[in-house]
Amino acid sequence: MVKKTVRDISAKGKRVLIRADFNVPLENGEVADDTRIRAVLPTIQYLLEQGAAVILMSHLGRPQGQVRDELRMDPVARSLSKLLGREVTKVDDCVGPQVENATAGLEPGQVLLLENLRFHPEEEKNDEIFARQLASLADVCVNDAFGAAHRAHASTTGLTKYLPSVAGLLMERELMMLGEALANPTRPFVAVLGGAKVSGKIGVIRSLLSKVDLLLVGGGMANTFLKAQGLEVGDSLVDNDSLAMAREMLELAGKRLVLPVDVVVADAFAVNASSRVVSVEKVPVGWLILDIGPCTVGLFEEKLSSAGTVVWNGPMGVFEFPRFAAGTVGLATSLARSQATTIVGGGDSAAAVREAGLEDRMTFVSTGGGASLMFLEGKSLPGVEALQDKDEDSRND
Ligand code: 3PG
Repeated sequence: MVKKTVRDISAKGKRVLIRADFNVPLENGEVADDTRIRAVLPTIQYLLEQGAAVILMSHLGRPQGQVRDELRMDPVARSLSKLLGREVTKVDDCVGPQVENATAGLEPGQVLLLENLRFHPEEEKNDEIFARQLASLADVCVNDAFGAAHRAHASTTGLTKYLPSVAGLLMERELMMLGEALANPTRPFVAVLGGAKVSGKIGVIRSLLSKVDLLLVGGGMANTFLKAQGLEVGDSLVDNDSLAMAREMLELAGKRLVLPVDVVVADAFAVNASSRVVSVEKVPVGWLILDIGPCTVGLFEEKLSSAGTVVWNGPMGVFEFPRFAAGTVGLATSLARSQATTIVGGGDSAAAVREAGLEDRMTFVSTGGGASLMFLEGKSLPGVEALQDKDEDSRND
């Protein structure tokens, strides 16, 4: 790890501002899945043990710079307080006099949670004054928001100009696990890509093809490849603008790119649609492909059984509808059975693995969606780039 981490700084008696990714699903005003909150606990606990006062900040949803009551951080404060077993005070803004008073009076061992950063449009605009206001609240910043590291916002990059900023323990682990898998994979190295669209993943496919021994493609994005091969895909979701690129990728990859051989088709995009399994050559006109079929699950399992490293991003079908979840659950089960190092990235695939109760059977499940994709694309993440290097003297002290 070339970046400084929380272990490289002295936190005793300091106010430490932690950028977390508490962008969690909510249901009836409570946190529905606390995975991202639990993932930051080691960093919070470490800093509290070191004698720091902890200030936490995050975005939640996409409120577009407006205060939206349903996206306040109160449910996160309740969940965090329960998980930490100590009081978490929450303030109703993230900058301004009320917040400055609250942070100024913080004692070592106390935990304060700021309001949703994205209630201020300045956060996503990476506004300098807003970044300075955030930086003024603490002595040091710890970025543990791997899930938001692909965003160059005030809280992820802007404030690092004004406050010494280092990586948290989650950030360190994410970068190590994803980085190792890509840079030093035990071979055969197999990537599995799914999700709805090809367009956002062209760079990822290109980058992975230069590294992997096999690329298995499922989910909605496989439709574009099937159509590019001249097959009928009915009314399935297709990125028509990406057909030429799909042809180019098929040519480049040859036998290394493996597509579904059968699919589950439906007569409508609906939870209770009529459905059947057909070979990819027999997709009926007017029907939609909503999942990979059982032969494909078997084919992918066979390819994965001898893999040394597997990286998976994106579901194999519309897994929110139980009738079309078998492909995604089947793939998760194959990964769980495999002896390979298994890395799961992406919000949806991670959720699918959790719902199937298989999270503990994976080597690592990333908390990042877009961030893990950007990492797989081989691009550097702005939120990581902005952190201090190991060999750098503390700036702004
Ligand atoms: C995520 O859920 O992937 C991160 O929290 C980033 O959220 P965003 O896509 O709204 O920036």
